[in-house]
Parts: sequence; structure tokens; C-alpha cells
Amino acid sequence: MAKPVTGFSKKTKTEKIDWLTKTYLSNNPEALQTLQQYWNEDQKLQKLHDDFIENTLSNYYLPFGVAPNFLINGNLYALPMVIEESSVVAAASNAAKFWLDRGGFKAQVLSTQKNGQVHLDYFGNEQNIVSFFAEVKPKLIESVSTIQKNMKKRGGGLLDIELVSKNETLNGYFQLHCTFETLDAMGANFINSCLEQVAKTFEAEADSYKPFTTTNIFPEVVMSILSNYVPECLVRAEVSCKLAELAQNDISGENFAQKFVRAIQIAQTEPRRAVTHNKGIMNGIDALILATGNDFRAVEAGVHAYASKDGKYTSLTDAKIENGIFTFSIKIPLALGTVGGLTTLHPLTKFAFELLQKPSAKELMELVAVAGLAQNFAAIRSLVTTGIQKGHMKMHLMNILNQVDASEIEKKKAVAHFNDNTVSHSAVIAYIKQLRS
Ligand code: MEV
Repeated sequence: MAKPVTGFSKKTKTEKIDWLTKTYLSNNPEALQTLQQYWNEDQKLQKLHDDFIENTLSNYYLPFGVAPNFLINGNLYALPMVIEESSVVAAASNAAKFWLDRGGFKAQVLSTQKNGQVHLDYFGNEQNIVSFFAEVKPKLIESVSTIQKNMKKRGGGLLDIELVSKNETLNGYFQLHCTFETLDAMGANFINSCLEQVAKTFEAEADSYKPFTTTNIFPEVVMSILSNYVPECLVRAEVSCKLAELAQNDISGENFAQKFVRAIQIAQTEPRRAVTHNKGIMNGIDALILATGNDFRAVEAGVHAYASKDGKYTSLTDAKIENGIFTFSIKIPLALGTVGGLTTLHPLTKFAFELLQKPSAKELMELVAVAGLAQNFAAIRSLVTTGIQKGHMKMHLMNILNQVDASEIEKKKAVAHFNDNTVSHSAVIAYIKQLRS
């Protein structure tokens, strides 16, 4: 069994790799080579990446692709996407092209409020904490004035603080529920700094509040942290067209729309389908979030909580047919930033923002919602017509060819061959074998 290591973070990169190789990898010399081949020759660029996290050993590449032809609110975009799943960018591009000829996507930010809580324990008379809060609230707000000076200048900041009793669901549990406008910043650091200051001031003031000192029962701060659940930071996107415009191959527009709406209704009713349905939406959302250096775990957590806000996990998209018009829409909470964090640090996120014409956080919310809607459209379109595997396996073909080290000529031949033949792992292996024999 391996022995615990001390001072690991202080070791140099090669010392770390050396220790790991000796301890876990049977001294395999290839381990160093594997990691080293991804080091950047540009020392400055490598240092930038090294410093993103602790104990960096190497860089982990994901493809940075682009889906062009997205007509969104009358402007044409090429959406940058970072993702490993082979069919996602192709599907997004197809959906973009499809809607380009049908009026494009419309998106609108509905609200931009973020929130965080100071979580409190208080086991005394509820009226005492209510009166204390009413008295101390202006001081709490005043106490963050330095932290929020710049944010306020730009028109954002702490919006309000409310005392919320959660005593009924958890004995002695109260919150200071704080709401924020963070403009173009995702705002995690700003919100957490404000919350920690509010908590400090609250505790300090409570120490000398008479009803607490006489009863000797004081409220105590358990923790202060932003919430990644942001249902008041909402964006909506939609596409719509006449039914006849949906006709494709051997399926009428009306028939396609009906099947499509039915597929959405199934995802709205059946959580097992809703999870996969929403996963497809997140394929598009996460890819754009990653390309722009935003926090995809925060978005994932918030979006899935929103999908179950009514007590049952359901679809994030909706579709309807009304008066001969098909409408397909998405409404999701998104807390995003176009300044701060990785957004201005990583050369590729900088590139992504330039490609997107330097959007504000609100504009980015609209683009991300569209990426999710487009991805869902592409998936449902395939599912209710050809089935998903046709497109998936076509894109997966290159992965299988790379697994068997196919040469460029073999790849070319295989792509041509599988244009008219069904792709499966065994069929590709058999084809390459036959080519090689
Ligand atoms: C695969 O990554 C995503 C899909 O499964 C989504 C869906 O089923 O709607 C195709």
C-alpha cells in the first residue's frame, strides 16, 4: 500500500511525477512521456495553466470547435464549443442551419438576480431575532460598502437582505437571504465576500443586543455562501415557424411537429426520459460554457434544481402547435460572467469572447440558452425520424478509426464506404481488416 506523502504541493512538477510514478505506476518511464507530450513549449503559457490549480502535472486537451450559422435575435453567430462527444458540434451546426432559413432563434433575459445566504442557528425567542434584524439591517448593508464600491458604481451590488425563518423545517435554522445584481460578473467571489462581511457584522452586533445578553441565547453563524440555484436569473429562447416549413425527407411538417411535441410531452411527464432529454440540452450548454471559461458545475447544479422546482424532475424545454404554428422554447436559470475568473485569463476564452463579438453577461445568457435549445432540437429531430445512432455513429467513426491507428488513406476509404453502410464498431474493424489484408 502507498504511504501518505507530505509537502506534495511544494515539490516541483517533475518531483511530483517522479513520486507518483514510483508509488503508483511501477516506475513506468512512459508515464512522464505521456504527461510531458502535452506540456506547452511556450513557458509563459504553460506557467499560466500550471497556476490555474494546485499540483498541475500536464494539460488535458478537449477539442475546441465551432458551430456557425446561428441566427440569434437577428445577428449571425458562430458559437465556440468545447466538448469531447463526437456528434455535439455537428448536431448544433445542423440545428443552426435548419433555423437559419426559418427566422432563426429569439432569446430574451427575463431577470438577472443572484442570491446567497448566511445560515444561522438560533434557539431563542423568534421575536428577539426578528426585532434584532430590523434594527441591525442598515448596519449590515453599510458594512459591505467598501466591498461593493466598484460594483455599485457600475450599477450593481447588494440589493436586499431578508431574515427568513426555516425553524419549521429545521429546528433553530434561520437565514439572512441576500440578493445581488452582479452585472457582467458571475459574481461568486463578490457575493461570498459580501456574505462573510454581513455574517461578521451580524455576529458582532448580536453580542451586545440586550434581549440576547439577558437570555444568554445568541444567534450563531453556521456558514455563509452563495447559492447556485438562481431561479431569479432567467433566460428564455424560442424558435417558431409554420407547420409546412417543417416538412423534410419523407415526413410532412404536421406529422413531424406532432411527433416532436409528443416527444417533449414524454420528457415533461417521465423523469427517466427527462434526465436524458436535459442531458442533451446540457451538451450544448456546457460546451459553450466551457469555451467561455464559465463554471459548468454551477450551471449544471442550478439548471437541474430548476428542472425539479415543482417537486418532480421534468423537461427544460416546451413545444406546442397553435393555429398552424410550431413553437419550441427553453427557459433556464444561468449565472454567467463575461469578466473576471478564467474569462480574461485563458487565451482561448479570450478568443471565444472575441468570436462572440464581446457579449455582455446578458447576451451570453441568451446565446447559451439558444445552444441548449438547438442541441435539444437536433436530438429530438433525430430521435423522432431517423433515430439517434445514424448521426452518432457517423461521427463516432473517426474515434473507432483512431483506435485502430488507421492511416489517412484508410480513413478516407472508410468514410466513403460508411457513407452508405451502417457504422458499428465490429463493422469498422472488419472493414479495416479487409483493407489491410
Ligand atoms: C446524447 O449525448 C444526448 C441524447 O441522448 C439526448 C436525447 O436523448 O434527447 C441524444
